[in-house]
Amino acid sequence: MSDMKAVRFDHYGDVDVLEVRRVPRPSPGTGEVLVAVKAAGINPGETVIRRGAMSGPLPTGQGADLAVVSSSSNVVSVLPHTLPSGQGADLAGVVVEVGPGVETLTVGEEVLGFCPRNKRVSQAEFVVVPASNLTLKPSAVSWEVAGALFTAGTAAYAAVRAVELAVGDTVAVSAAAGGVGTIAVQLAKRAGATVLGIAGPSNDDWLSAHGVIPVNYGDNLPDRLKAAAPQGRVDAFLDFFGGGYVKLAVTDLGVPPLRVNTLIDFAAVATFGVKAVGHIDAANVGVLAELAKLIADGDLEIPIAAVYSLDEVREAFRALEQRHTRGKIVLLP
Ligand SMILES: NC(=O)c1ccc[n+]([C@@H]2O[C@H](COP(=O)([O-])OP(=O)(O)OC[C@H]3O[C@@H](n4cnc5c(N)ncnc54)[C@H](OP(=O)(O)O)[C@@H]3O)[C@@H](O)[C@H]2O)c1
Repeated sequence: MSDMKAVRFDHYGDVDVLEVRRVPRPSPGTGEVLVAVKAAGINPGETVIRRGAMSGPLPTGQGADLAVVSSSSNVVSVLPHTLPSGQGADLAGVVVEVGPGVETLTVGEEVLGFCPRNKRVSQAEFVVVPASNLTLKPSAVSWEVAGALFTAGTAAYAAVRAVELAVGDTVAVSAAAGGVGTIAVQLAKRAGATVLGIAGPSNDDWLSAHGVIPVNYGDNLPDRLKAAAPQGRVDAFLDFFGGGYVKLAVTDLGVPPLRVNTLIDFAAVATFGVKAVGHIDAANVGVLAELAKLIADGDLEIPIAAVYSLDEVREAFRALEQRHTRGKIVLLP
């Protein structure tokens, strides 16, 4: 049987638990295809999982990336994670084998997509995925961008949709230049909103070039946000950083709770009654194809901060965990 390289971990902990091993190459079952992975994005939620925060029944408020939040009830449920584990949901690559019953894809087609939530193994040379989790990659979209799109793109899409932006609204976005933020600020602009992007000074130029008003994090942030807003008023808030931004939005800026969406601060969801709509709410190939078309048409940019080989997975996560990435970090198997 042929084998392949893949990221694995047997214990919860720091980046050092991550290993790149030779493992058997999987075969596609009914409705599945085998993809030779060209690029696989990495995400902060994978750090949450690797540290063990999703390893058992969890109270509301813990574990970011796998938390499923009903947008109507704000009820959080979680998927327990088990060991040993692979890693990664995002992927782009070439179909190399098609399982029984697959009629939508053929060998040789270039695709992007995602692993099922209970089988996250895209950080590998090959991955088996349900055909229904894949869409064709437009040729104008690079491998790096296609492989980085799923988690951040669908999270940004769902979060922007959740706060129901209209022309004339002003929305503030924390972590505006990160993996999710760079996409969300552009989608919010497309919805007709004025966008205030909260990040450090090194991102001022990128945000301005994308029509976003940069506002640096730091002292007196609520006053500086209000001063930067055209009508002195912030109508909606997208929190991609945590650490008090929900409280700032509701109590300091007076944003109505149902126009605040956080991807990370689940404790604040219970306290302030804000939304926590995440990527699960837009995790489908229709949304992926829509985002890929925007990119192919030149209407959406996904900045790639750095690429690493699969063997450099620990270095890639050390960089991501600094929380100062502009756009996405991608592994190229
Ligand atoms: N629930 C879901 O569906 C879901 C999906 C995806 C992600 N997430 C979560 O969403 C969050 C964002 O993910 P990501 O991939 O976008 O993260 P990321 O790329 O690591 O975010 C980096 C960004 O954070 C900014 N930043 C650093 N310190 C900040 C501060 N004090 N205030 C405001 N911004 C600050 C950085 O700006 P500077 O470089 O200028 O400092 C940079 O723009 C993570 O917590 C992740 O777990 C959740």
